[in-house]
Amino acid sequence: MPLFSRGLNPLLADWKGRSAWVVGASSGIGRATAEALHGQGARVIVSARHGGALQDFVRGREGCLALPLDVTDAAAVDAAAQAVLAHAGGAPDLILYCAGHYRPLRATEFDLAEMQHHLAVNYGGVLHLLDAALPMLLQAGRGHLALVGSVAGYRGLPMSLAYGPTKAALNNLAENLYLDLHGLGLGVSIINPGFVDTPLTAQNSFSMPALIGADEAARHMLQGWAQGRFEMNFPRRFTRWVRLLRCLPDAWYFSAVRRFTGA
Ligand SMILES: NC(=O)c1ccc[n+]([C@@H]2O[C@H](COP(=O)([O-])OP(=O)(O)OC[C@H]3O[C@@H](n4cnc5c(N)ncnc54)[C@H](OP(=O)(O)O)[C@@H]3O)[C@@H](O)[C@H]2O)c1
Repeated sequence: MPLFSRGLNPLLADWKGRSAWVVGASSGIGRATAEALHGQGARVIVSARHGGALQDFVRGREGCLALPLDVTDAAAVDAAAQAVLAHAGGAPDLILYCAGHYRPLRATEFDLAEMQHHLAVNYGGVLHLLDAALPMLLQAGRGHLALVGSVAGYRGLPMSLAYGPTKAALNNLAENLYLDLHGLGLGVSIINPGFVDTPLTAQNSFSMPALIGADEAARHMLQGWAQGRFEMNFPRRFTRWVRLLRCLPDAWYFSAVRRFTGA
């Protein structure tokens, strides 16, 4: 990760007395990050559809709150944002959008409903969150918005017809948010993981290079926020190659992807 990507945001290092809202916290990276934040002293509000998993998280964790919601439901996201405001006693220090949906899809099996569901969860849900949370962050003049994208958003990949474009959109959205909000005192970050062992990747039938655990992903994210990074990608032993591929001319890129993936 280039040195000059550090320090682009107000540093989020000491979590004692701070609050975080993690959307998509019932499993995988979101759950592990919620645990890590609470472990560092934060009060964590957790959201996702499965209320049972959220209740498991808050049980025995002081200051934490479960707010079940479906990110495709704008009114539910707005109601949750108001509850977060009340519980945190103001705008939370961090809002992490970690909800995500992935099904492998190719153009030869085009499925409009699946395409639209990816769009609704991976991108539309972020818009619902921004609509609900931006006014409170702007009014407070502080706080940090973090979006979980993917290295699959860098360029086209096999089986990524529905998923990849939504993650590309998040990368572009995050850059726009940064340009508009940084000068107002707000932090913005985009997290682009490689392969992380979660229910989302459990459906992959191929061997995933440089696969890491969700706890390790959470550690990278907390470290990135502490260093004020805008973009985080990890593990570096994998993402440095994906980032390099991103810079190749089209003909070389397509040929390299076909060769490495057998697509
Ligand atoms: N695992 C990887 O290798 C990898 C790599 C790059 C990026 N990512 C991204 O990382 C994020 C987390 O994924 P993960 O790997 O940790 O998978 P995961 O364990 O399946 O987590 C996905 C989370 O999204 C929530 N979610 C899905 N649909 C939702 C909806 N309609 N409303 C509210 N919440 C919803 C799920 O909760 P409910 O089902 O309870 O709603 C769950 O908490 C995703 O954005 C994913 O695209 C993952």
